[in-house]
Amino acid sequence: MKMPSVAVSAKGLMKWFGEGPARTLAINDASIDAWHGEMLYIVGPSGSGKTTLLSILSGILRPDAGSVLVEDIDIWKLDSDALAAFRLKTLGFVFQDYHLFPRLTTVENVAIPLILQKRNWDEALGEAMKMLEVVGLETRAQLPPVKLSGGEQQRVAIARAIVARPDILVLDEPTASLDGDTGRRILGFVREQLLSEQRCILVVTHDARVFDYADRILHMEDGRITGLEREAR
Ligand SMILES: Nc1ncnc2c1ncn2[C@@H]1O[C@H](COP(=O)(O)OP(=O)(O)O)[C@@H](O)[C@H]1O
Ligand SMILES: [Mg+2]
Repeated sequence: MKMPSVAVSAKGLMKWFGEGPARTLAINDASIDAWHGEMLYIVGPSGSGKTTLLSILSGILRPDAGSVLVEDIDIWKLDSDALAAFRLKTLGFVFQDYHLFPRLTTVENVAIPLILQKRNWDEALGEAMKMLEVVGLETRAQLPPVKLSGGEQQRVAIARAIVARPDILVLDEPTASLDGDTGRRILGFVREQLLSEQRCILVVTHDARVFDYADRILHMEDGRITGLEREAR
């Protein structure tokens, strides 16, 4: 059997926001290891630093201290071009507020990562269409995202994040706007597809309906990782 390898390894992360009396410590000495072939959940109360931590791990937000190794590359030592190229090649991210492009159609939104990776346009749209079928939105393909409900937009964001099969997929509250069955079906699909290829999936969620998909569950409170609820299966 192939030994699991570490996908993301962060040590001693610190992050402050604001200045003077308003200065708050959002991440307080957080360290985390995530493995290829696992779905790792991070749960904790609102404001505990989950989104901030995911942003630091994904090369979106620079920490004030600490390091993040993603597949052995120290990402916060890369210059901004190298970091952007690295993110494009390695990471998929589903933001809490979706971040869809309003001037593109739904299918074009899903095709973006493939286009950026210089794939042929027709082929990219074909792949994007297949992903929309998976999330049950093929009939919405030609509409702009504003014509879609919140839950539909969330599914588009998930389709866009997985279309290029990233080595590391980061999902911030991915089922918050979905009904229970849809949330479970989509996360189950993500798990089956990406873990069978030994990719690493990081999920922030409050949604107890999808906890059973987790290999491990980390707890976060006041910017700290406070505990591990479940050992690796
Ligand atoms: N851009 C920002 N500017 C100032 N404070 C922020 C910013 N982003 C997050 N925070 C603060 O950092 C803390 C953690 O926020 P966040 O990571 O969004 O928590 P969670 O995702 O767990 O709800 C909160 O106190 C929040 O108010
Ligand atoms: Mg959040």
